[in-house]
Amino acid sequence: MKEKLATLSFSDGSPSVDFPVLGGTIGPEVIDVRSLYGKTGKFTYDPGFMSTASCRSNITYIDGDQGILLYRGFPIEQLAEKCDFLEVAYLILNGELPNKEQKLEFDGIVTRHSMVHEQLSRFYSGFRRDAHPMAVMCGVVGALSAFYHDSINIYDERSRDISAFRLIAKLPTITAMTYKYNMGQPFMYPKNKLSYTDNFLYMMFGTPCEEYVPNPVISRAIDRILILHADHEQNASTSTVRLAGSTGANPFACISAGIASLWGPAHGGANEAVLKMLDEIGDIKNIPAFIKRVKEKDGHAMLMGFGHRVYKNYDPRAKLIQKTCHEVLEELDMKDNKLIKLAMELERIALSDDYFIKRKLYPNVDFYSGIVYKALGIPVSMYTAIFALARTVGWIAQWKELIADPEQKIGRPRQLFTGATPRDFVPIGKRK
Ligand code: SDX
Repeated sequence: MKEKLATLSFSDGSPSVDFPVLGGTIGPEVIDVRSLYGKTGKFTYDPGFMSTASCRSNITYIDGDQGILLYRGFPIEQLAEKCDFLEVAYLILNGELPNKEQKLEFDGIVTRHSMVHEQLSRFYSGFRRDAHPMAVMCGVVGALSAFYHDSINIYDERSRDISAFRLIAKLPTITAMTYKYNMGQPFMYPKNKLSYTDNFLYMMFGTPCEEYVPNPVISRAIDRILILHADHEQNASTSTVRLAGSTGANPFACISAGIASLWGPAHGGANEAVLKMLDEIGDIKNIPAFIKRVKEKDGHAMLMGFGHRVYKNYDPRAKLIQKTCHEVLEELDMKDNKLIKLAMELERIALSDDYFIKRKLYPNVDFYSGIVYKALGIPVSMYTAIFALARTVGWIAQWKELIADPEQKIGRPRQLFTGATPRDFVPIGKRK
C-alpha cells in the first residue's frame, strides 16, 4: 500500500516537507515528525502534550468522545463485572486473559512475594507519624531498589518479571503498613490464604488482638475499584514512569517517580481533594454558591473529580464506581449518607450548567471513589495511596513495554527559548 504522507508548507516560501502518517489499530492516526528538526531546523511546540503521541502502546485504549476504555481490547465494564484484580493484572501485563492454570500460577507467585524485607519495616520509623501517606510511599517504594538488588538488571527479561511481581505483590503490604504507621498500630504480616484484596483489607483493618473477617461485598467493591484504576494509557504518572524508565533507571525508582507524579491534585490526588471539597461545601444548600465560585474561577476554586484531558464524555469508570458506591452504602446501611447525597446533587447541578456543558466537564474516576473509602473508615489522606497500589500494575506493564520497544530512546523534549541572548560577564563591582 502507498505510504500516506502529510505535507507541511510554510508561508515564508521555505520548501514544503512530507511526513509519514502512521495508523494504529484503532484511534486517530499520528503524523511521524521525528525527522522534522533534521528537515527544517524547527521543533513542534506542544506544552501539556495536547496533540503528541509519545510512544506506541498496545495496552490500553481510550475513546474520550464515546467514553470507552479498553484494557488489551476488553471493555472495562466487562472486566470490572467478571474478573478479579489479579486476572486483570495478568491481562494488562501479558496481553491475554489467563487460563485456569496460568491464573493459579500467577496468583501463587504474587502471593508468595507479598512480604517485605524485615528491615524495610524499620524504614517507617524515620518518618513522622503524621507524614502524608504519599510521602511515605514515594520513599519506601524507592527504597525497594536498596533491598532487591538482584532484580534491577533492566536488560534481563527474567529480572524485569521478578521486579514486576515484587512490586505488584508488595504494594498492598507497603500501603497497609503506611496506614498502620499513621495509626500507631502494629504492622500486620500478609496472610497467604487470603485473596489479594482480602489480604490488603486484612493488613489494613486487622489487628493481632482479634480475628478480622473480610466482608465479601466490601472486598468485591475494593477489588473492582482496583480494576478500574489499574491502567489508563499515557496519563501524567505513567508518562513520568516512562520518562524515568527511558534513562535506564531501575523499576523501583521509576514506580516511585510515578507515585510522586500521581500525588498532585490535578491527577490522582483529586480523590482526596474531592472529599475536602465536599467537606468544605458542607450542605446541599451551599452548592450554588460553590458552583458560582468555580465558574468565576474565584481563588482557583475547581470542581474536583470533574474534567479530563481525554474524556469529553462520562468517564466509564465514574459510572461503575458510582454503582459500587451505592452497593457499599447499602451493605453498610448508610443509604442516607449525607456525603453521597451532596455528591449526587453537585453532579446533577454541574451536569445541567452551561459552564460545564460547554467545556464537556463530566465526573471522572476520582469523583465517587473517595465516598466508598470514607464509608469504609479509610482516612482521606490514604485515598491516593490506594490509587497508586492499583496503578502499579499499569505502570509496570508500560515500563516493560518501554524497555522492550526497539524505538525506545531517552525522553528529551526541546524548548522554545525566551530568555536572554548572549551577553558578556560584568564583574560584581561594576554591576548596577
Ligand atoms: C486523573 O489523564 C488521565 O488519564 C488521568 C486519570 C488516570 O486514570 O490516570 O484519569 C486520573 O487524573 C483524573 C483527573 C483528576 N483531576 C481532577 O479531578 C481535578 C479537576 N480537573 C481539572 O484539573 C482538569 O479537568 C484536568 C487536569 C483533569 C484536565 O485538564 P485539561 O485537559 O488541561 O483541561 P483544562 O484545564 O485546559 O480545562 C479546560 C477548561 C478551562 O476553562 P477555560 O480556561 O476554557 O475557561 O475547563 C475548565 C478550565 O478552567 N475546567 C474546569 C475543571 N476542569 C477543567 N473548571 C472547573 N472545574 C474543573 N474540574
